[in-house]
Amino acid sequence: AGSGRLVVVSNRVANLRNTGQAGGLAVGLAETLKEREGIWFGWNGAPDGVTGGEVQVERVGPAEQVTVPLSPEDVANYYLGYANSVLWPLFHYRLDLVDYRPAFYESYQRVNQTFARQLSPFLKDDDLIWVHDYHLIPLARCLRKAGCRQRIGFFLHIPFPSPDILFAAPNHAELVEALLDYDVIGFQTQADAGNLKAYLAENSAAVQLDDIHFRVGDRTVTIDRFPIGIDAKGFAAMTREADDEVLIDLMRRQVLGRRQIIGVDRLDYSKGLPERLKAFDRLMAQHPELEKSVTYLQVAPPTREEVDAYGDIRAELEALVGSINGRLADFNWTPIRYIHRSVDRAKLAPLLRGSQVGFVTPLRDGMNLVAKEYVAAQDPEDPGVLVLSRFAGAAEEMREALIVNPYDIDDMAHKLYQALTMPLDERRSRHEALLDHVMRHDSRAWLEAFLAALGDEATSARRPQ
Ligand code: G6P
Repeated sequence: AGSGRLVVVSNRVANLRNTGQAGGLAVGLAETLKEREGIWFGWNGAPDGVTGGEVQVERVGPAEQVTVPLSPEDVANYYLGYANSVLWPLFHYRLDLVDYRPAFYESYQRVNQTFARQLSPFLKDDDLIWVHDYHLIPLARCLRKAGCRQRIGFFLHIPFPSPDILFAAPNHAELVEALLDYDVIGFQTQADAGNLKAYLAENSAAVQLDDIHFRVGDRTVTIDRFPIGIDAKGFAAMTREADDEVLIDLMRRQVLGRRQIIGVDRLDYSKGLPERLKAFDRLMAQHPELEKSVTYLQVAPPTREEVDAYGDIRAELEALVGSINGRLADFNWTPIRYIHRSVDRAKLAPLLRGSQVGFVTPLRDGMNLVAKEYVAAQDPEDPGVLVLSRFAGAAEEMREALIVNPYDIDDMAHKLYQALTMPLDERRSRHEALLDHVMRHDSRAWLEAFLAALGDEATSARRPQ
C-alpha cells in the first residue's frame, strides 16, 4: 500500500481547468487531483479520432491530465457499442434494448488493452490506481498483463444487475473474472454488491472470507459499497448566487402564486421521463384546481444520440410534452417546460432551490446525484420535497424522501400531490434528516472511504479509527 500518487482512469476526463459544466463526480475528483499529485487518464472525447498526437499530457497544478484519442471505429464499437448498447442497457435491466454484436466486444477488449499500454509508461511503483465505470471493467487484467503490480481499485457508478440478468451477456463469465483482478470492487449500494456476491457464490471459485472479503487464488479481494456523494457545501453555496434571469423567473412565479416541480436528467431511457410526464398529466386530471398553479420544468440534455434507443426515447418524450401541453396550456400558462440542452450548474443550483418539488424517478439508477443536489440546494427554513424512485441507488440512503414506484403512474401522481400539500413542519423535519445525510456523506467522504479500502496511507491516517 502506498501514500503515493493517485491515478484516476475513466472513459471521460473532466477538464481540470474548468469544472463549471462538469458533473458532481468530476468536480469531486478534480478537487482532489488539484491538491494531490496524480494523473487523470482517459479518452479525449473527440468523436472522430481527430487530434494532434497519440497521447496528450497537460499539467494542471500537481496533477497531469493524460488524454488519448479513439478511432472512429472504436467510438462506434467500444463507446457507443459495447459500453452503451450492451453494458448500459443490461446493467439497467433493459434486456430488450441490448444490441449484442461480436465486433463490439472485440473493440471493448482492444480499447482496454490500448489504454493499459498507453497508461503503463506513466505509472510509478507506489501509485494507487482507481478505475471508474463500466467502460473499463477489463483494465486491471490488461494492466496486470503489462506487468503492473500496483494496487488497483474499481468503482462502478451504475447499477450491477442480479445474476439472472447478467447471464444474458454472452461474456458474463469473462467480465466477472476480469473484475476479480481488482483489489477493491466498489458499488453504489448494498443491493449492487449483493448481486455480485450472489453471482460469485454460484458461479466462481472465489471463496467468501467475511462480509466484504473474498479469496481469489492467492489474493484477497474486497467487495463493498461506497455510496457516492456530492460536494454538498459547495453546491449549497452556488444556490445563493442566482443570476438576474433566474431571480426574475422566481419572482414571476411568486407573484402568480405558482409552484414548480423540477427534474434534471440526461435524456436517457433509464430515467423514466415518459412516466414522469404521465404522472404530471394524471395529477392535473385528478386535481384540476392545480391548473395554472403548478408547472413542471424538465431539463433533459442530449446524450449518446447516435444510439437508436436514445432517438426513440427523445421522440416519445417530445410527442408527450407536445400533447400534454397542447391539451392543458392556456395563453398565460405552459404546464410543462422542457429543455433539451445542457444547463450550466451555476444556473441549475438556484433553479433547484426555487422549485417546491424535486422529481427524481428513474426506472433504474446507480445513485442519482440530482436527488442529493436537490436536497443540498433547499432553504432549510422553507424546503421543498424530494419525490424519489425506489429504484435509484439514492433510495437506499434517503429514506425521508417520498419514495415512489416509477412504473406506477397513480402512485407518482399521488405523491406529487402529497409533496405539494405537505405542511411546513413535516417538510422541515424530512429535509433536516436528508440534509444531514447529504452533508455528512459528501464526495470527500466517499473518496476517502474508497481510498482507505484500497490501502492509501495518506487517507487512512486522516480517518477516525
Ligand atoms: C453516467 C456514467 C458515466 C458517464 C455519464 C455521461 O453517469 O456513469 O460514466 O460519463 O453517464 O455519459 P457519457 O456517455 O456522455 O460519458
